[in-house]
Amino acid sequence: MISLKVIAGKPEGVRADLVAAIVFEDEPGFSRRMAEVRKTAGHIPPPVASGAFKGKLGQTLIVPIAGRAAHQIVLVGAGPAGRFSLEAARRISAAAIKAAMAQHAPAVVLQLPDAEELSPLPLLKAGVSLRDLALSFAEGGALAAYRFDKYRTEKENDFAGVRSFSFLVASRRNFDTYRQGVRDAALVCEATWLARDLANAPGNEIYPESLARRVRMAGRKHGFSVTVFDEKKIARLGMGGLLGVAKGSRKPPRFIIMETRTPRGRKRPTIVLVGKGITFDAGGISLKPSANMAEMKMDMSGAAAVVGALQVAAHLRLPLRLIGLIPAAENLPGGNALKPGDILRHLNGKTSEIDNTDAEGRLILADALSYASRYTPDLVIDLATLTGAVVVALGHVTTGMLGTSEPAMQQLRAAGDRTFERVWELPLFEEYEKLMKSEIADVKNAGARWAGAITGAVFLKHFIGSYPWVHLDIAGTAMLEEPGEYSQRGASGVGVRLLVDFLRHYKP
Ligand code: BES
Ligand code: MN
Ligand code: ZN
Repeated sequence: MISLKVIAGKPEGVRADLVAAIVFEDEPGFSRRMAEVRKTAGHIPPPVASGAFKGKLGQTLIVPIAGRAAHQIVLVGAGPAGRFSLEAARRISAAAIKAAMAQHAPAVVLQLPDAEELSPLPLLKAGVSLRDLALSFAEGGALAAYRFDKYRTEKENDFAGVRSFSFLVASRRNFDTYRQGVRDAALVCEATWLARDLANAPGNEIYPESLARRVRMAGRKHGFSVTVFDEKKIARLGMGGLLGVAKGSRKPPRFIIMETRTPRGRKRPTIVLVGKGITFDAGGISLKPSANMAEMKMDMSGAAAVVGALQVAAHLRLPLRLIGLIPAAENLPGGNALKPGDILRHLNGKTSEIDNTDAEGRLILADALSYASRYTPDLVIDLATLTGAVVVALGHVTTGMLGTSEPAMQQLRAAGDRTFERVWELPLFEEYEKLMKSEIADVKNAGARWAGAITGAVFLKHFIGSYPWVHLDIAGTAMLEEPGEYSQRGASGVGVRLLVDFLRHYKP
């Protein structure tokens, strides 16, 4: 992980490879910053004079400076002050980090706007805290700095990456507030990096047993407990879905249970997070086409998000009892594989008819959702790269949300808007249920062509207990085809920031 720090002082004295300064697009911010630039650089940079650099959000301009430890600054556009938002803060930092990468600058300092500049902003007038602002500035940079290059013996452009990102504040006045925000960002970004690493890792590195080992390591390092069930225990319990999906692979399944230490005191609400842990999804006997099949190494992105969220929560001492459950298996078409027409019996006793072995996520989640009842939870949230249909509906921008708890979905919406890991509800109307009816079992695992994201959730609903439940289909948001503002092609680590923000603000 990149190192994140808050430092106090003047930009003149800063030792860094690159110092970034924020420029609002509108007045008086723009002129004020340019007066400073003229003083330090000795001139107004030509792109400013010509109007090419206007301070549009994310626009950057490198300005060489003589006679300073940091011999160049980068001006980063912030867009109009009136529209400044937490997301703008993330994009500003991300732009600074991208500029640093282009300059091969390993140590970057971002000069945070001072209180005079911040307090008139509508965002702060609306009650957003300086702590959350610092959190967002730190997040954007730390997430933009991520690379998955551990398998490249020759790094791109011979640059090892940005190593440190610091925030320069002019006075000590809000130093501690900023430091808290940046510390929170470090926790949540380290967890997002982990989630991205786990999902980007190839199937020959991450399979159910090795995933369980990684979760154990994370638990030891961050202080949450980890219990792992092997295939014998999974069979003894009667998790027919997890066992059935795993049969086509030589790699045995695992069921991973995580739990944070609950602070003492009165009864705490219990929340169970469930993550789909298909470490590779070839489709099974209903084999997927080979084009882009490699992407399916990321089919454990839900699991990765749950590990990340537990890792952060372990440090935050939230007034909650928090459990993470990961059913993990590999979906391959081996000689012993599950076949269309097979019938499975799940942990809660219900049976499912296999129509398509590529609808495997719901089969393993069924057992995990049934298992969740043992905790008599106040809420269960599952995250899964469940359907291609949700990508058709919402693209790579928005996570699909379905569930039985209006208040929890409302709070997830709010957390999504704050973190910009946005979610949108799809309906679970009763009329969809007939699409999943089986003539010979309680439910079948695949519907016809339409409403695929919904019928996936309809299947899951058969296996929930009497608890409130929300399903997040992250198939589009967890795996990106194009780099984003502060994410790269590949695994986004979506869910970590959403869940952490949700848990922090959770109201039973
Ligand atoms: N892991 C896939 C869903 C997926 C598709 C994730 C594209 C990310 C990108 C899932 O297991 C799957 O194969 N779902 C099927 C379900 C169908 C057979 C009912 C699908 O969406 O086609
Ligand atoms: Mn599948
Ligand atoms: Zn899958």
